[in-house]
Amino acid sequence: MTRFDLQLRHPTGETTISVGDGALGEGDAALETWVRQRRVFVISSAALLELHSQSLLTLSRQAAYWHLLEVPDGEDAKSIAIAERLWGEMLEAGAKRDSRIVAFGGGTVGDLAGFVAGCFMRGLEYVQLPTTLLAQVDAAIGGKTAVNLTQAKNSVGLFNHPWRVVADTRLLKTLPPAELRSGLMEVLKMAVISDAELFSVLERDLEGLLAGDPGTLAPVVAAAARAKIDIVERDPTERDERMLLNLGHTLGHALEAGLEYRSLRHGEAVGYGILFAVQLAERRGLPVEAAERIRRLVERFELPRMPALEVEPLIRLISRDKKVSEGGWRWVLPVDVGACEISTDLTETAIRRELTAYLEQLGTIS
Ligand SMILES: NC(=O)c1ccc[n+]([C@@H]2O[C@H](COP(=O)([O-])OP(=O)(O)OC[C@H]3O[C@@H](n4cnc5c(N)ncnc54)[C@H](O)[C@@H]3O)[C@@H](O)[C@H]2O)c1
Repeated sequence: MTRFDLQLRHPTGETTISVGDGALGEGDAALETWVRQRRVFVISSAALLELHSQSLLTLSRQAAYWHLLEVPDGEDAKSIAIAERLWGEMLEAGAKRDSRIVAFGGGTVGDLAGFVAGCFMRGLEYVQLPTTLLAQVDAAIGGKTAVNLTQAKNSVGLFNHPWRVVADTRLLKTLPPAELRSGLMEVLKMAVISDAELFSVLERDLEGLLAGDPGTLAPVVAAAARAKIDIVERDPTERDERMLLNLGHTLGHALEAGLEYRSLRHGEAVGYGILFAVQLAERRGLPVEAAERIRRLVERFELPRMPALEVEPLIRLISRDKKVSEGGWRWVLPVDVGACEISTDLTETAIRRELTAYLEQLGTIS
């Protein structure tokens, strides 16, 4: 097995991020020492444990006490009510300040587990064992944790880096193809932001990657993780450069919300968001060849057709999005393949005009 061990230095220490085809199943000495003789609380969903609990077997044997904390599948896990239930269950099971928390699941489980770990007794160490591609390349890296309020997603949370991340690409074999495709869009995003070489790999290997081969995926997951680590190290608390990671997300989030999280997956909405960013960027000098390369690669993802949408509700959703800071609208725009900038001078009027043209061109304006 080829294994990639990456380091993320952050304000509270250092996190090793290991990526590999079989990285978890074949045992991990550091992780085994970390759980040895401890009470370990594993946060996961029933569906996932049914598929992959075998991967945790070696680790579970090292713990003094191995307690499963089951959470609902998907976004329903990320609530204060679920966090409170888990804190209660942990107290009843005798959790101490040096107990351990293991997040085993996609980004929803990881975001919740990091939040639960960060608040319980003012902070327990935890590890991320991400099981979706999106979580392996993005959500598990960088210490952002959160739960949702009914008013807004991810509105309550904290920066809390895991002690360790182990991303086993073999776990991705059971991922539904649409989830894999959605996660690969985040890889494409990372490539457009800062890694032209990764972009070329995607151009070359997209079909193999979409087929979910763990060996083909491992170096690509590692490269995307490396690209995210570099940005997070330079801006750990998202004050400036880390906002680059929002490429495609300002419109993407508005599309998801405008369609009530039903018609487009996150990665698909981000795909449409990237295409819009390319349109905006072209007006500001993005070379035509670069714009065309990005467009062609996004098109190879065969995004589902976007249902008809009105411009004004989208503009309102964009305004509400937290990426619109007190200082004004911020848009992440490519300046080349592998390089982006944060633009602060695009007015609401300009965005309204561009968005109208964009939706008209897609034939999805209502
Ligand atoms: N913290 C961050 O920096 C950050 C970054 C990006 C996204 N996020 C968050 O991540 C969440 C989305 O994460 P996600 O896309 O992983 O979604 P998810 O956690 O809901 O997982 C998607 C689905 O895949 C299933 N699944 C997970 N692993 C599987 C496997 N190996 N085989 C088969 N099925 C599997 C899950 O049960 C779920 O139904 C959002 O809540 C988002 O806000 C956080």
